[in-house]
Amino acid sequence: MSEEKNKVTEHDPVTDHEYDGIKELDNPPPRWIMLLFYITIGWSILYGAYFFWLKQGDHQDAEYVKKSAQHDEKYHITALSTDDMVAFTDEAALTEGKEVFTAMGCMACHGLNGEGNAIGPNLTDNYWINGCNIKDVFNVVKNGVPAKGMTPFKSQLSDEKIQKVASYVLSLVGTNPANAKAPQGEECKEESNS
Ligand code: HEC
Repeated sequence: MSEEKNKVTEHDPVTDHEYDGIKELDNPPPRWIMLLFYITIGWSILYGAYFFWLKQGDHQDAEYVKKSAQHDEKYHITALSTDDMVAFTDEAALTEGKEVFTAMGCMACHGLNGEGNAIGPNLTDNYWINGCNIKDVFNVVKNGVPAKGMTPFKSQLSDEKIQKVASYVLSLVGTNPANAKAPQGEECKEESNS
């Protein structure tokens, strides 16, 4: 039965390829597939020209930089340089810093008044694990210390807010809250902090 089916009849179109008596049937793919095939070839030529020859399109990295700049602009995120950052000392900024401290749940790990608890260190003594100037504190809050359980806040807070909460943290030094956790790290030797 199946032999019957596979038999080439004289009506079947055959190409003129022949090898050892074996003939090739002329059995092209449907038109729409061929059309799709030619379109992809055409597209790849345009694509290659656009990106590699005319160098019009952005490569992945450039595209990423552009997109994140647009994102920052849209959400008013400006990256602050820590090079000559100073801690805020004015009441308004510290109040805002305190609001951030409350809103972000810093007290879950550092206590309501920064006194520290079983999870996080005391932020009110003058001993620091990661450094005590505004840059250090800013960087710890921004990038966290994931291995030690300190959350990075860079995706949740703008640099400006981080600077404010960091200033608030520094303003807590010497406040001696109740139930203060024992000092950890090294005593701060920098003037600017006290
Ligand atoms: C999930 C718990 C957790 C939360 C939430 C958290 N922290 Fe921490 N934080 C830690 C731990 C744990 C450390 C200690 C890291 C280490 O040992 O280096 C730390 C360290 C710090 C330090 C450095 C202290 C030092 O001695 O060097 C600062 C500053 C700090 N946190 C501020 C904040 C602020 C501000 C917030 C809220 C925006 C916050 N933390 C939220 C757990 C937390």
